[in-house]
Amino acid sequence: MQRAAEQPLTLRVNGQAHTLDVPPSAPLLQVLRNDLQLNGPKYGCGLGECGACLVLVDGRPARCCVIPAGGVQGREITTLEGLARRSGLPAGTLHPVQQAFIDAQAAQCGYCLNGMIVATVALLESHPQPTEAQVRAALSHNLCRCGTHLEILQAVRTAAETS
Ligand code: FES
Repeated sequence: MQRAAEQPLTLRVNGQAHTLDVPPSAPLLQVLRNDLQLNGPKYGCGLGECGACLVLVDGRPARCCVIPAGGVQGREITTLEGLARRSGLPAGTLHPVQQAFIDAQAAQCGYCLNGMIVATVALLESHPQPTEAQVRAALSHNLCRCGTHLEILQAVRTAAETS
């Protein structure tokens, strides 16, 4: 017996609707990277542990390696590529948090930065002037193996001043 064809999924990503022929169980990270060529979110652990794949779903940080694409239909998904647009900035410009990370030279290998930046944007939207403890708590589940934590903390402080 032949399986009924699955309905295409419609995902709203960075302000645009995309109709995609992918199974609803496909990890959102895979769909973003492979089908939409949005390579901001990174594949780190694939287990929801490291934070490299962070995106915003309806403005809240979410680990998209463990989210099935079918579970976020009708939600607003924002990747690193869409942060400036989400803040009403012109296309091609950097979000102030991205600029602050560059200014603080917070990258070594850079693999964790997508997650660090997305987590910082979410933090500053809910707490525009966060305490040191709030910054540390917001980033505590984003792993950096290079050890640039001091620069990352400086970047968040700068972003809080300039956002
Ligand atoms: Fe998603 Fe590590 S790749 S949390």
